Amino acid sequence: MSHIEKIIARLYTSAFKASENAYAPYSGARVGACVLDDNGELHTGCNVENASYGLTQCAERNALAAAVNAGVEPRSAHTLLIFATGFDSLAPCGACRQVMSELMADDAVVISCHSESDYRSWSVSELLPDAFILS
Ligand code: THU
Repeated sequence: MSHIEKIIARLYTSAFKASENAYAPYSGARVGACVLDDNGELHTGCNVENASYGLTQCAERNALAAAVNAGVEPRSAHTLLIFATGFDSLAPCGACRQVMSELMADDAVVISCHSESDYRSWSVSELLPDAFILS
């Protein structure tokens, strides 16, 4: 089993279950995300839409917010898995890439799954090279 396949085996069900909680009356797209922290704990989020469309929260950002709420140190998480229905293949949106680049390690892996065997993966720095940071 490859490193990516091991991550999928560990995080897939949690991301899938989170997607079942999606509040997506406008798009119908259900997305769940799961962050694995360095203590082996999982933190999940789903997409939460709003009639004022721009207020929609993506699953990835909600999972990262849940991790921060649980006390996970920013830039320490190395793994995030996304499960999505309603897309052929989901690549994370620009807003989520910016938040990932601030809250996850540079070499963190992001995996987007359509099923357990149909997935794409990237490092955070591949998703957002030369990210905006305040120094
Ligand atoms: N969505 C996510 O949850 N993650 C992404 O990376 C892209 C889009 C959600 C937001 C919205 O509820 C729906 O998918 C359609 O854009």
